[in-house]
Amino acid sequence: MNRPTQALQAVDQSPHPEGLTPPAGWDRRGLPGWTYHSPAWFDLERRGLFLTHWMLAGHVADVASAGDWLTYDILGERALILRGRDGELRAFHNLCRHRGARVVDGVQGTCRSALVCPFHGWVYNLDGTLRGPARPDSYDGMDRSAFGLKPIEMQVWHGFIFLRFHPGPQPDVADWLSAYDADFVAYGAAGLEEATEGEDRLAPWSSELPVNWKSVRDVDNEGYHVAMAHPGLQELYGDDYRDLSLEGGLNISVGRFGGTPPRTWSVRNYERLSPPQPHLPHRLQRAWTYYGIFPNAVIAFTPEGAQIYGETPLTVRSTRITGRNYKFADESRQARAARYLAMRIDRETSKEDQQLSIWSDESMASSAFDDFHLSDLEYGVRRHHDELRAILPFLDRPTAPAATELDQWAEKALLTRPELLSNQPEP
Ligand code: FES
Ligand SMILES: [Fe+2]
Repeated sequence: MNRPTQALQAVDQSPHPEGLTPPAGWDRRGLPGWTYHSPAWFDLERRGLFLTHWMLAGHVADVASAGDWLTYDILGERALILRGRDGELRAFHNLCRHRGARVVDGVQGTCRSALVCPFHGWVYNLDGTLRGPARPDSYDGMDRSAFGLKPIEMQVWHGFIFLRFHPGPQPDVADWLSAYDADFVAYGAAGLEEATEGEDRLAPWSSELPVNWKSVRDVDNEGYHVAMAHPGLQELYGDDYRDLSLEGGLNISVGRFGGTPPRTWSVRNYERLSPPQPHLPHRLQRAWTYYGIFPNAVIAFTPEGAQIYGETPLTVRSTRITGRNYKFADESRQARAARYLAMRIDRETSKEDQQLSIWSDESMASSAFDDFHLSDLEYGVRRHHDELRAILPFLDRPTAPAATELDQWAEKALLTRPELLSNQPEP
């Protein structure tokens, strides 16, 4: 278990106690409504954002042993993260070099010594090299070394796995997320394990919403709605909840529990069972803390464990939301019980948020919708939008640009970003 006890006093003081405060007279509007339903715009987001920025795919705990694999699909790209016999973790396109079938099918699994493509049976080693095609005699002197799985850029940071499908503007993950370092060291994030339920591995959750991905993120980027929409969370930490916006599109939300005695069964029992965590700095004890991973994910810790969750855009009007849970290695029975209750509270919260995302998204299609008028407590929504504004053009336009303008921008961007040329829009 990687939980340093030294030097914790040094990190007890948060490096960013208040975060950025909204400047006087800040622009309280949101992104223009057309960006939530324009297919042409969605394609720009696909190429200029999702495929060229770091995507959070999982944790090394999901692929702990040789032969373990994990997949990550987004917008036409399919990744396979695989632990080799040498213990190395590698990421590849989940795309057979014969005719492109998925080499593995599913979210997560284990193979013994090789991957066998389900289409015609080509066999790959656990380091991605081609062991051999089926019926090698049907090929005339094939050079197997030219047909290994194609690699994808991957970086592991405090155990969390990040993928990038094409080169992009962000620095290495460790530099990008360095503002979170002290907390992740304190939690021992690199030593997290897959969460269990009873004796079994707890399966990741996933559900699909008929909304643009930004409508999910907008709801998650502010805590103004907690008091009204999340009775459980409000009881748990509503008195002490804060959203902190940081530089570079990062944000931390934190709520400390243990204030007013809760009435709800699950919250009351959670607070009773959540064991003291003396190894954590005081500011992280009895706290639920959420670390934003721009543009579409969050890593969240409670004193009993962690989860990652986020939204994967499927089409301009549909989004898959997914999550995975983790536990600490030396989990006591009491901590496990508290972790179950935390998950229960969290699932209720997630359901409530899904409804809010649907309402928010629907509003964009109404003729009566003017714009957001954000509270200071929703500054995180604006910061996220500003981060998008820094990357993508036209976000100050009240109406959608003509398709030709979008095309011209894309063409110009393609001249300076040739790596995007290989990604043609989806039909
Ligand atoms: S597509 Fe994989 S073996 Fe044919
Ligand atoms: Fe919420």
